[in-house]
Amino acid sequence: MTTPDAGSAHRADGPIRQRAAALLAQMTLEEKIGQMSQVNGGESYIHDYLADGLRAGRVGSVLNEVDVDTVNELQRIAVEESRLGIPLLIGRDVIHGFRTVLPIPLGQAASWNPELVTRCARVAAREAAAAGVNWTFAPMIDIARDPRWGRIAESPGEDPYLASVLAVAHVRGFQGDDLGEPGSIAACAKHFAGYGAAESGRDYATANVPENELRNVYLPPFRAAVDAGVATLMTSFSEVDGVPATANEFLLRDLLRDEWGFEGVVVSDWDSIRQLSIHGLTPDDCESAFEAARAGVDMEMHGDAYLCHLAELVEEGVIDIEAVDEAVTRILTVKFRLGLFQNPYTDPGAFPPVADDEALATARLAAVQSAVLLKNDHGALPLEPARIGSLAVIGPLADAPHDQLGTWIFDGDEKLSVTPLQAIRELAGDRFEVHYVRAMETSRSRDTSGFDEAVAAAAEADATVLFLGEEAILSGEAHSRADIGLPGAQAELVARVRSTGKPVIAVILAGRPLTLSDIVEQVDAILYAWHPGTMAGPALADLLFGVESPSGKLPASFPRMVGQVPIHYNHKNTGKPPSPETVVHIDDIDPSAPQLSLGMTAFHLDAGYTPLFPFGHGLSYTTFDYQNIRTDVTEFAAGESVTVSVDVANTGDRPAGEVVQLYVRDLVGNVTRPVRELKGFRRLRLEPAERTSVSFVLRAADLAFYGRDMRLRTEPGEFHAWIGGSSVTELGTAFRLVPGA
Ligand code: BGC
Repeated sequence: MTTPDAGSAHRADGPIRQRAAALLAQMTLEEKIGQMSQVNGGESYIHDYLADGLRAGRVGSVLNEVDVDTVNELQRIAVEESRLGIPLLIGRDVIHGFRTVLPIPLGQAASWNPELVTRCARVAAREAAAAGVNWTFAPMIDIARDPRWGRIAESPGEDPYLASVLAVAHVRGFQGDDLGEPGSIAACAKHFAGYGAAESGRDYATANVPENELRNVYLPPFRAAVDAGVATLMTSFSEVDGVPATANEFLLRDLLRDEWGFEGVVVSDWDSIRQLSIHGLTPDDCESAFEAARAGVDMEMHGDAYLCHLAELVEEGVIDIEAVDEAVTRILTVKFRLGLFQNPYTDPGAFPPVADDEALATARLAAVQSAVLLKNDHGALPLEPARIGSLAVIGPLADAPHDQLGTWIFDGDEKLSVTPLQAIRELAGDRFEVHYVRAMETSRSRDTSGFDEAVAAAAEADATVLFLGEEAILSGEAHSRADIGLPGAQAELVARVRSTGKPVIAVILAGRPLTLSDIVEQVDAILYAWHPGTMAGPALADLLFGVESPSGKLPASFPRMVGQVPIHYNHKNTGKPPSPETVVHIDDIDPSAPQLSLGMTAFHLDAGYTPLFPFGHGLSYTTFDYQNIRTDVTEFAAGESVTVSVDVANTGDRPAGEVVQLYVRDLVGNVTRPVRELKGFRRLRLEPAERTSVSFVLRAADLAFYGRDMRLRTEPGEFHAWIGGSSVTELGTAFRLVPGA
């Protein structure tokens, strides 16, 4: 494809800033505001109003168009038929894959493998770029501590450190080394900020996050993404401290621009500027445009508050033209960095085919490494083909090519899906029989009429694998649940199958941590697969039959009951911390006991204080032994470091992956510190009997936190450290940070 002449002075050589400035100098106010407007496409068709808008320079970006010919035509109109020939940003939610679907982001987080997450994002970016997409609205890096919230599926989970590492991994994958290289697309860190703290996990609800918690918990992943060079950020739908994020000057100007020096583009969320009046912050769209522009939103996603009102606000002197110029400069800069002025067009033939070997291998590996073995009594897993005459495969998610993909798969091709049933049949060959009973139409079904057949199949088989969980539609945006147990009649199905007395394995596909208390004792093993994507089948078959050993670790705590939410490992100690000795169970209360006899610590009478499965938990088919935790020094000062090391051995009989985790507690702080904080992790693979030592270097900056003055500080004092295979490891040591010289 030839590159048409994109027109005027902005093609001059020279640093991007100068070229953007030269182009800006030629623009009318209307053209500037046009750059600040993003319009919905997405019908493989260009409506007259959109074409007219492009010609008139009223559109800076189009979202949701992924038909490459249509995208090229959009670019052609923008470049050849508008006065200044400015190419378009083409935005799309490429969240965990494009045609090839990788595990949902929460699943990818469970891999604790940043290099693999980068590869996943790269696969997604390459396939999306081949369709003309040059901007993804990902990664979503909202800390999520409430599994009721449907968007926890899209998040990195509950921990700021893990989320920060993965934020960087995603940005690297999407953007590559250079935004201009083929297969790179601009990333968008979202949703700035606090969106994951929605009250009661109800999507879009108010977020109440004190500034100190915002800084110590919710903002670190964004800071990491900014430092990693993320090109854009998206505001959140929710309000923080009474001010919707889209109008929040503190977040968007004071913090993001002034404190962090972010120079990229800030885009609103979908119509979130006009929604400012629905929030009750403004009386009308004009005020909404004013509030968003003043706060520093550079581009309006789908909405016309800027188009209709920004010009008059500038002409009246209420919004400075300098603010508009800055926003437009940032938008043009991203377009320059993407190389769109050199070539706005996409030749799909220049890209590898979608779902090529690399894409499918990455999807399969990610699905393997994201699955978490929650329990495995008496070595129920792995199954041994040689010892199974017949296997019952039961459940609504065993053969559900669409649902295994999860949420946000606008472009995911379910025809590429290999289901667990298909893969198990293939693996079985003629070695053992596979008897499949779906038993339930959907995961929500309450109709139990298929259960007799399921029970009969289980009774005849040597073992049963139940594929349970949530369909894709039950998690994601606007898909929050108040009851996060297995939906429909699934628990009853488990109980019925259990009654056969045969081994029962549950594989759970879900978009969130579910409460599993009602089935956990009913099954011999639970493999938690999240929504694993295109290659769910081969990955799960490999895990079930021991070709691979599970190595995923939970990125979020699993509550026993929904009433425990939020429950996360890195909570504060409180003045009355619970312990096994202080917990009283509701069934054990002595009716004559006085009010003050019940423990007097922070626990629930009916649920205690621990989760069912803690953060970082994940079993393996082998066993790992941790010994000899040590530090190289007992104290160190700012400018120095402490190295915390441990010996890890594979004491089982198979090679397997393990994620070694380092946790730290700062015993005394200017603001109270969490009881444990993840400060490092390393994924490794050990052969049977292999032993290695793993070291983590900590500097004073790694122990820093925001104090009462909202400034980052490191405080001398005592720290405890633990290393192990989950957040409840007891293998600990201690060190001191001492005042510097
Ligand atoms: C979501 C964003 C998404 C946007 C565009 C919104 O509803 O909150 O995360 O990027 O839609 O699809």
